[in-house]
Amino acid sequence: MRAAHDGDPVYERFQFLMNAPALFNAVATSVELGIFHFLADRAEATFDQIHQHTALPLHQLRVLLQAVCSTGLLTRRDGRYANSAVAQDLLASDDEDSWAHIIVGWKEVYYPAFGQMTTALRAGTNTALDAYPGDEPTLYQRLSRNPDLEAVFHRAMSAFTLRSVDALVERPEFAEVRHLLDVGGGDGTTSIRLAARHPQLKSTIFDIPSVSRIADGKTTALADRVDLLSGNMFTDNFPLGPDAVLFSHVLEIFSAEQILAMLQKAYDVLPVGGRVFLYGYNVSDDETSGIFSARLGLYFNVLASGQGMAYPAADYERWLSRVGFRDVTTVRGLPFEHGLSMGTR
Ligand SMILES: C[S@@+](CC[C@H](N)C(=O)[O-])C[C@H]1O[C@@H](n2cnc3c(N)ncnc32)[C@H](O)[C@@H]1O
Repeated sequence: MRAAHDGDPVYERFQFLMNAPALFNAVATSVELGIFHFLADRAEATFDQIHQHTALPLHQLRVLLQAVCSTGLLTRRDGRYANSAVAQDLLASDDEDSWAHIIVGWKEVYYPAFGQMTTALRAGTNTALDAYPGDEPTLYQRLSRNPDLEAVFHRAMSAFTLRSVDALVERPEFAEVRHLLDVGGGDGTTSIRLAARHPQLKSTIFDIPSVSRIADGKTTALADRVDLLSGNMFTDNFPLGPDAVLFSHVLEIFSAEQILAMLQKAYDVLPVGGRVFLYGYNVSDDETSGIFSARLGLYFNVLASGQGMAYPAADYERWLSRVGFRDVTTVRGLPFEHGLSMGTR
């Protein structure tokens, strides 16, 4: 007999979603135990070899491996386990852009907070931030009190940025930029890639002091063209001099009023002809699609800032025009639901 929803993709997705939190954690645990890494080194391994490597009790390892095999990320043939092509590509290395870093960051920072979703959305503020000591209003500021977790967060942020930054770095507009101000530039991943790709470009990375210290260790090789400025983007002035301002994965953290204030500050320091670049996630204009964007908007509201979302490109364009930027346009449909909105002073 046919079940009522057989063949309905929403039903398939529903069944997957109901089990996804457990499977996500099984994959994260396998990353932490080094299983994908271990299999990458030897192509395949027996249960006993994985047992020796992980030191998990036999029964618990059996349960874990079954869970990961059910996702397809591991395969098992004739009792021997191997990475799937996707696991081999995304999870098996410690390279800076490895999804292993992203998974650990999401596990440590994002997903514990989502248990508070109903409370936080009802309260209209990021109640999950109470788990982090301090009185600063955003997660980014409070993480500076926990350097280990801050390092995990920025490693994950950098890995994701490396996977999504090419569409920005390859834009021809950056061949005309002399001095970029990278507001909320994080550990410098984006500015380093831009400076490496565009030899005429100098960048100033503006971020809070604890994050500037992380960036400091990364920008040494390009120190003549990438410098650091510590401060608070809301309460400190933007420096004069840059002919372009970049907000990459930054404005979506904040409310419409705060975004307008940031765009105004950018407008005020730019020369006539100077450009502003807004790079990040965009939900679809009708606000019905975008799973990366959905996760991000929920994370902002439950934990990171208590506001913000991956606004549709039309919102950014309206705000840019309201501040006075001209030639406002968006490059849409970039990988990972990204868009690049631009304006010229
Ligand atoms: C999501 S990360 C984006 C990092 C980087 N732009 C990228 O695309 O990878 C947001 C950044 O904004 C910074 N930030 C948040 N609030 C800030 C503030 N008030 N002043 C300066 N930087 C801030 C955070 O420290 C963090 O590095």
